[in-house]
Amino acid sequence: MRHVTRFTIAVALLISTVAAKQPQTVEARKGVVVSVSEPGSKVGVSILKQGGNAVDAAVATALTMAVTYPPAGNIGGGGFMMIHPANGRPPVCIDYREVAPSAATRTMFSLTDSRHSRKIVGVPGTVRGLALAHQKYGKLPWKQLVTPAIAMARDGFAVDAHLAQSLNKFLNDKKTEPFTEFRRVFAPPDGKAWHKGDRLVQPDLAKTLTKIAAHGADGFYTGSVAKLIAAEMKRGKGNGLITTKDLANYRAKSRKPIHTIFRGHDVYGPPPPSSGGITLVLMLNMIEKFNLREKGRWSAETNHLLIETMRRAYLERARHLGDADFVKIPAHLTTKKYAAKLAKTINRDKATPSKQLAPDIPLAAEGTSTTHFSVVDSDGMAVANTYTLENSYGSRVVVQGGGFLLNNEMGDFNWKPGYTDRRGRIGTEANTIQPGKRMLSSQCPTLVAKNGRIVLVTGSPGGRTIINTALSVVLNVVEFEMPLPQAITAPRLHHQWLPDAARFEGTTDARHAELVKQLTRMGHAMNNASYSQGDAHSIYVSPNPRRYIGVADFRRSGFAAGY
Ligand code: DON
Repeated sequence: MRHVTRFTIAVALLISTVAAKQPQTVEARKGVVVSVSEPGSKVGVSILKQGGNAVDAAVATALTMAVTYPPAGNIGGGGFMMIHPANGRPPVCIDYREVAPSAATRTMFSLTDSRHSRKIVGVPGTVRGLALAHQKYGKLPWKQLVTPAIAMARDGFAVDAHLAQSLNKFLNDKKTEPFTEFRRVFAPPDGKAWHKGDRLVQPDLAKTLTKIAAHGADGFYTGSVAKLIAAEMKRGKGNGLITTKDLANYRAKSRKPIHTIFRGHDVYGPPPPSSGGITLVLMLNMIEKFNLREKGRWSAETNHLLIETMRRAYLERARHLGDADFVKIPAHLTTKKYAAKLAKTINRDKATPSKQLAPDIPLAAEGTSTTHFSVVDSDGMAVANTYTLENSYGSRVVVQGGGFLLNNEMGDFNWKPGYTDRRGRIGTEANTIQPGKRMLSSQCPTLVAKNGRIVLVTGSPGGRTIINTALSVVLNVVEFEMPLPQAITAPRLHHQWLPDAARFEGTTDARHAELVKQLTRMGHAMNNASYSQGDAHSIYVSPNPRRYIGVADFRRSGFAAGY
């Protein structure tokens, strides 16, 4: 009888393992790069092999992905790079978020304005951000880091199935029609459709990257490239606001990360203008009050507590967060005391309706494409980098002659001060438009360390779900002690306060049917269709002897490279 039971369990486990998607992984001793783009990861590792450190590799990967992953890899967007140095220096966040142009105004958008226009472009931050990271931490000459990207743009590279599908989708999208330069630059070689293995050649982008190689960030923010961007603003309806002065004035900033200690681990996330760090730390500080491990990863109790934690933390986010250079953010949001107080408001048996917590501050929708990659080098220096154009292919404006896409990040501001509606518009003051202000982000590149040594590097795309994806990976590894491939595969959960509904990747999985039933009984509105959350390309560092486990998430596309 015992044998039969064991056999049955073994077969059931085998079936569920076969049925589950397996992430591609790499195990290495010297260095690992994991990103959405195979050429991006390979270029990063080649830079490590040439003697570069994690920041050098991150810069080269980011620039390569501006060529090989146009939906979100970019030089015309912005993001956040978290760096954990290996020599005991404190972790930092390079904030290269876009800013509102100097001519921007509080009420420059009406709620019906298009998300694809020149007007919606924020002053790009990526090239200054990468240059600042390199200037502070890099080892190899800048030019060496730009060279692989130039070669890929000039000579072309083979598109993979994921990119081919994405390009076809966006080229055929009606909203792309007015953007003739987009259609010219990304036209398939046979004029009809992209297929896996076709070559994408981008000569204009190669020229822009050559300027960046020769002159550093100034090659983008001043001179002929800056003039091309300013000229692009005048095309179409001619309502783009960015001037050569806005570009010359753009500064990336080195900031202190948001930090907490969770179960003996140091956790670092990006500070404002990202909401990532504060929201993640607030959630971890609340969760610290519960022993989730004892309750089990897939128990109704654990997942109820997670939803209630998310609900409360996302309300604080909506209420208070914006660019801290412009608005005051309450310091208590990251204290253990405040988290304990919030945790006490959770009813252990049933869902608290979101409206009961605060009457009405719905949330605006966020874009669909961002990308995250992780790097660790042979000294244990680590980089978690998330960057974005906001929507896939951003504004769909390609700078004529420059060959690169511009972001539509101004959409991350609150467009109508004071106006909030049930459809998800939010009008809270902290994130209204001002010239030079950075729009609130959810990007959450995350570093976890123990005794000063890096343990986990993670992050994800996914708009507002990003922070809950980072939470899921951190909890799976630190609280539930899952191996990283399992931590990445595990179904993800999301609640963002409003709309008052939980999204769970396991809803259509028979193995979680009972959990979903119980959560519904407790008063949670659960999704009932299949759902995919994020794309968390991550690295785990296993000590004694030190080994790096790189895991490429399978949800979009990805490749873990190492040596
Ligand atoms: O910075 C932000 O929070 C958004 N612009 C990110 C958008 C996003 O992640 C969409 N990704 N799938």
